[in-house]
Amino acid sequence: MEIFDQVDKLIEEIKAYPVNNAEELEKFRIQYLGTKNSIKPVFGLIKDVPNERKKEFGQKVNEAKQTAEEKFRNHQTSLKSAGRSDKYKTFDPSLPMDGEWEGSRHPVSLVMNRMIQVFEKIGFEVAEEREIEDDWHNFTAMNTPEDHPARDMQDTFYLKGSDKMLLRTHTSSVQARVMTTQKPPIRIIAPGRVYRNETISARSHCQFHQVEGLYIDKNVSFADMKQTLLYFARELYGAKTEIRLRPSFFPFTEPSAEMDVWLGTDTEATKRLTKGTGWLEVLGCGMVDPNVLKNCDIDPEVYSGFAFGIGIERSAMQKFEIKDIRLLFENDLRFLKQFSSAT
Ligand code: PHE
Repeated sequence: MEIFDQVDKLIEEIKAYPVNNAEELEKFRIQYLGTKNSIKPVFGLIKDVPNERKKEFGQKVNEAKQTAEEKFRNHQTSLKSAGRSDKYKTFDPSLPMDGEWEGSRHPVSLVMNRMIQVFEKIGFEVAEEREIEDDWHNFTAMNTPEDHPARDMQDTFYLKGSDKMLLRTHTSSVQARVMTTQKPPIRIIAPGRVYRNETISARSHCQFHQVEGLYIDKNVSFADMKQTLLYFARELYGAKTEIRLRPSFFPFTEPSAEMDVWLGTDTEATKRLTKGTGWLEVLGCGMVDPNVLKNCDIDPEVYSGFAFGIGIERSAMQKFEIKDIRLLFENDLRFLKQFSSAT
């Protein structure tokens, strides 16, 4: 039947239509898929088809339409990928970005870098050390000899087959590294990752980050420490921030304290983070125990100093209102993309 031949011809025409570039593809689209395309009128011819062949005819015209759609899609994808490889062939790194994701800093890095900045302003220098430590630098030098009950405060990952090598449980091990290799005055901050064998939950993880501070010189007093930490808190949390020091215990400092920062209980987030008290526990600190100085060959009759260890995760969670610490270690891009790339 002649009408059927017409559709066959149309299908052939669609297949043969030359498409070599984006312009020709657009012409093709208008011709066969646009609002005034040349397949539509053929559908109209159905009224001249005898009833028993109407179904067959309809299928044929649909075939023409599908052929056009498929051809369009195929050319579209191959044009796109050709465009991409062209782009990389002529890649010019000096051109501005085309709006793709630039990458971002991890929230832990953002907070850690900010803390480093604050201490660098008052003359502290960054010291970085190993994460795999020996027992001496992590514990013994820090006045925590074997069998000392204080070792239980920090559940330790020991390396397989060794009772002397471990993953550092705190950045205080850097204190021992620095004091055995440098002479006072010493003024360092040591940012880094630490490990403890703890059950992973929304609030605690087996890995986290600390920034350690150590200041050793002649005549360093508790008042110096307090003023330094107040400066730190006000830089980080705002000029009006209040702190409190609570008496505490660490084997390597005497006296020891824990510092809280007042966040208040105005929001759900601060309520949760401060367990309803309004005070966020930010760091442990104290005057370096004379035994630690002795262990590191520094004369405690001449020198004194203070040390502190700041937990990063809790501050990062407070700053960015992150509810679950595990998010910080899953490296889910949907989470990480929310942060800025600055500093
Ligand atoms: N190392 C202690 C901890 O991880 C923190 C601390 C550092 C306390 C330095 C006092 C002085 O809990």
